[in-house]
This record gives sequence, C-alpha cells and structure tokens, in this order.
Amino acid sequence: MSERVHYGGDYNPEQWPREVWDEDVKLMREAGVDLVTVGVFSWAQLEPREGAYTFGWLEELLDLLGSEGIGVDLATPTASPPPWLSTKYPDLLPVDSKGARYSHGSRQAICILNPTYREKARDIVSRLAAAVGGHRALRMWHVHNEYACHVPYCYCARHAGAFREWLKRRYASLEELNQAWGTTFWSQTYTDWDEVVAPRMTATFVNPGLDLDYKRFSSDAFLEEFREEREILKRARPDLPVTTNFMGFFKPLDYFRWAAELDVVSTDNYSDPANPDWAMESAMHYDLVRGLNKRVPWMVMEQASSRVNWRPHNSAKRPGEMRAMSYQAVARGASSVLFFQWRASRAGAEKFHSAMLPHAGTSSPVWADVAALGKELEDLDGLQGLAVQAKVAMLFSWPNWWAVEAPAQPANDLRLADQLRWLYQPLYQSGVTVDFCSPDEPLDNYEVVLVPSLYLLSEEQGVRLASYVERGGTVVTSFWSGIVDEHDAVRLGPYGGPLRVIMGCDVLEICPLPPSEPVQLQWEDGHVSAASYWADIATESGGRVLAYVADGPWSGRPLVFETTYGKGRSYYLGTKLDASGLSWIYEQVPALRAWHGFGTTGQGVERVVRASSSRTYEFLINYAPQRRTVQVAPGGFDILGQAEVGERVTLPPAGVAIIRRPGARQFA
Ligand code: GAL
Repeated sequence: MSERVHYGGDYNPEQWPREVWDEDVKLMREAGVDLVTVGVFSWAQLEPREGAYTFGWLEELLDLLGSEGIGVDLATPTASPPPWLSTKYPDLLPVDSKGARYSHGSRQAICILNPTYREKARDIVSRLAAAVGGHRALRMWHVHNEYACHVPYCYCARHAGAFREWLKRRYASLEELNQAWGTTFWSQTYTDWDEVVAPRMTATFVNPGLDLDYKRFSSDAFLEEFREEREILKRARPDLPVTTNFMGFFKPLDYFRWAAELDVVSTDNYSDPANPDWAMESAMHYDLVRGLNKRVPWMVMEQASSRVNWRPHNSAKRPGEMRAMSYQAVARGASSVLFFQWRASRAGAEKFHSAMLPHAGTSSPVWADVAALGKELEDLDGLQGLAVQAKVAMLFSWPNWWAVEAPAQPANDLRLADQLRWLYQPLYQSGVTVDFCSPDEPLDNYEVVLVPSLYLLSEEQGVRLASYVERGGTVVTSFWSGIVDEHDAVRLGPYGGPLRVIMGCDVLEICPLPPSEPVQLQWEDGHVSAASYWADIATESGGRVLAYVADGPWSGRPLVFETTYGKGRSYYLGTKLDASGLSWIYEQVPALRAWHGFGTTGQGVERVVRASSSRTYEFLINYAPQRRTVQVAPGGFDILGQAEVGERVTLPPAGVAIIRRPGARQFA
C-alpha cells in the first residue's frame, strides 16, 4: 500500500441502487478517501441461495473503486450468515449457557465449530478469492468481522466435545487435570473425560480452572477458524496482507495470541464521548493495540464520525473532536483512520449510527469535518518509519484478566481495567507514553515496567520479570500480583511467588478495605497521603519501607516498599495509592516523570512523540475546553499549521499541532 495515512471506512453499497455508487465514489474522492472495506455483510448478496453465486456486482464495484484510485480492504462475509443457511442447518446456531439456541435475525449467530458453517465459510471465501482475488483494487484482506463480538461462548455438545479434546492436549492425563483444577474440593473429581462439560449454568461458582480453560479454549476455537480463512486467502494472493478487526480491550479473545498471526493488526474504537476520560480510554486502547504485535503495522479499522446507536444514550462527538481523536490514532502509530460506515443506512439496525456521509448528505456539518480531515491527511506525509517513543511498559495478559475477575475472589468488584487506569492516568496526563506488553515478551527496551494486579502469572513469566530488574530495570508492581500459577492455583507461603524477590516484603494476608474506610499513609520523608480499596498485611523482607498506615485499625502496617535487586530497583504498592501517593512514586523514577512542557498551563493536552533516526514528530492535542499553552523545545515546524514554532505552542480546544524536528530520537 502507498505511504499516506489511509482514510475511508466500511462501504456497504449493497444497500443502495447502482446510481448511488457513482455519487459515492465522487464524494469519496472529494473527502480524500483512499481505502474502503467492502463485503463485511455481503454473504446474502454473494450467495443469495445455496450454491448460487453472484460476484458480478462486486466486480463492477471493484472496477469502479479501482478506476478512481480507491483501494479495497476486501472482507470475507462470514460474520453474517444469511437466513437460508441457518434455516436449512439450524445446528450452526450457537447455544447459550442455559442450553437455549440462538436464532438468526441479526448477525454473528454462529457456532464456530459447526462443520456445516465451516464448510460453507470455506466455500464462500474460496469462491470470493477465486472470483475477485486478482482484482487490482485490492489492498488487503479483512477476515470475518469482530470475531466473538456478540456471541463469545457457545455451549453446545460439539463445543463440549472439542473442549475435552483440547484439554487432552493440554493435560497429559485426567489426573493431571484434576490436580490442576483442584477438583478434590467440592467433590468434583472427574473419573472419565466424558464427565467434563462446558461451564453451562450451574448451581453456584463454577470451578475456576474449568472456567479459565474454557475461556482459553473458546479464544483458540475462533482463532482456528480465522486461520482456515486466512490460508485460503493467502493461497489466492500471498502478496496481500491479512487482518481481522479487534476491539481493543475485548475480554473474550486473547489478542496477544491472535495478533501474532496477523500481517496488520486492526481495531475498532468506539470510546464514549460522554465519558470524561474518553480521550485517555482511547489512548489506552491504542497503546494496547500497538503493543499486541510490535513487528507489524496497526490501523484503526472503525471509529464513528459522531455518535453510535447501541448505547442507552449515544452522545455525539463535539465539534473538532472527531479530528482530534483521529490525530490521536495517528500520534499513537496508526497507519490508517477508517470509519463505520461510509454512507448512513436508510434502514436496518444501524440506521442511526453516524457515518462519513450522513442522512442529510453533504450539507451535514459531520460531512464537512469528514471531508476536511480526509484532505488534510492526504497531504500529511513523512510519517513512515516513525516509531512511537515509549520507555514505559505496562504488563497485561488475557489469562490474568480472566482469572482475576473470576467469581469468588477477595474483591469481586476488582476490575483489571480500573487497575490499569489507575497506573496509566498520571502518565497519560503528563505526556509519558506507555507500551502494553505481554508478560511473555522481552522487556529490555523499556526503562520501567508497570505491573498492575498481575494475579496470574507463570513461574517463567515471574522469573523473566525478576531478571529484568536484576539486569538493571525498574518495576512498579501493584497489590494482588503473583498470587496464582497458570492454573489459578495459589502459590503457598507469603504471596507473590516468583515476584517475591522484587517485592521487598512478605505479604502474609490480604485485606480488602471497606469502601468507607480509606487509610492515611505516612511516608518516610514525612509527607502524608491517602490510600483505599486494599491493604496487604505485609512484613519487610529485604526491602525498605516507604510508607506505613498512619491511622485506624491497621496503623503501623507497612504498605509501600522499595527494593534493589541486582542492578535494578523495584517498588511494591500493597494498596491503592491516591493520586499524590502515586505521583510521589513516579517522581522517584526518571522515565515516569512528567514532561516538563506542560508547565502550569498544559492540563488536558495529550503529547506523543514519534521518531526515526533522522527526524522527530511531536504530537500535541488539546482536549481541554479552553485554549492551552505548552512549552516545547525550540526549532520545530508545525506541519499542520505550516509555521515555525518558538518555545510555546498555543492550542485552541480540540486543536492539534504536529511539530517536526530534524535529528534523532528525542523523548524530553
Ligand atoms: C462494530 C462493527 C460494525 C458496526 C459498528 C457500529 O462493532 O464491526 O459492523 O456494527 O460496530 O458501531
């Protein structure tokens, strides 16, 4: 694909008469569109009856787009099977945890393991590839759509059987499985593989080992179907990159495993404009997606031009926000900014979802913004080869997410995302960029690693983290980390397992605090701050106490520790520090210190740096409702404003500056 930031969206022209297509393409040109996703919902048009195929309309469409220089991300239509398919083969509909079968009438009602579905999917994908795979308009393949979005778990008998086979590959014997899941408790010991079922509705807490493995298995089951489609497409056009669109922090699929199989990672971001922290939520989403596979590019496959239509109340983006948030994606490394969808539907489930071309047509202010941004991006070049600069990693893993939020925990209101936000927010607000990393990847490129509630981790992952510290790295770990192994079995002795060497303390008990009982902390340098939610009952063990509880029943208990281990340093937070306590910790670590440029006037400005060995681009985006002024290094050129910048940059609300400077990577 060409080098520019690609711009466009899902294009579903099957909704419109032929003459509308000509207008679409003309307006796409006007809006600087160079990439559209076609075919996501086209199965019923491509195969209107079983075995009867109609690819002519698609060829005509590709010809039209190609003749205007608009590239196509061609989707396989397998996320939305037509009604004839499930009417004739009803057992391809999924089954819920109560044993009820879903019906068609919307989309994604699929049992991903159903052999008929698989055969029909392979068939339509092969025919699609054969019919139009060689078309010159094609730029990439888009497999399926948002795997597992609506029905992440199927509990049919076929799934239960496949789960047993998956378990037989994971555990050498039934005894090993019994051991891993702790089935001697509650008299759950299995004596025959056939007794193992999918975790359907049951009387109370399902065995956590069973629940965790079913989540792993279900993610893998979808992945296997993805691979099948990908192989067909790769055979037809080995030169085209393959993606499937993710959904950021989407719990059911282990995207680290998935991303390893993609040529381009892509994501759909519908952060809620009504959330006061939505820019941060969106930044975190992008930092995660960028980190899923650090060897390949990533793109925004979908965002909304204004509102969605699936929340209880669908707040519109305020003037300027769509542009600002699009630049946020570019700042964080996205190679494209695409929308759902090109033209607003007249009918159907998404008719009130915003689009690039709204119902009012080109007189809509949303269209004006969409077209202006497309033109602006068309002229924006020089971004290729610029890597997002981050010295801070945050560890995240799906098995941990599944396990730490499983039922019957000490704090069942613990949401991993809240723990991530707690550690991420001060950095986001102060212009420090974070890369999300899996606990399985090398961390030596980072100066600091943040470890929010990494409750489940394998021995190997723990040892890797400790040895990162030993070699000179810095780690900040928060409470409820290192508690269980990969089977969700508790490590005995003081809590922490392989992380104990870098915790500096022995955590002997855990103490979730009543919401109305925060604690005061007395820090070693004399200042005080508050903490809440959780308190470890810990004793010093090799570390230095940085803060004690200063009041209430837990008075005198140490809660924050610093340890040196080998050449590195480690901080352990046995409680949820308030903002001032956390900034005190961050102040101790150079890579976590706020970017100096904010001074006292930069609040609400997001800052990200992309750089190569020869040039640096500093992105500044103002989300505050007022003008903001930040101090920058002199000698830059704002490529959007087309002006030299001095030592200060003033941004209006929703204003964006991209400051180019010659020279190697700069962080400061
Ligand atoms: C996505 C989906 C699109 C569209 C969009 C609306 O989840 O991939 O097809 O439904 O949401 O926000």
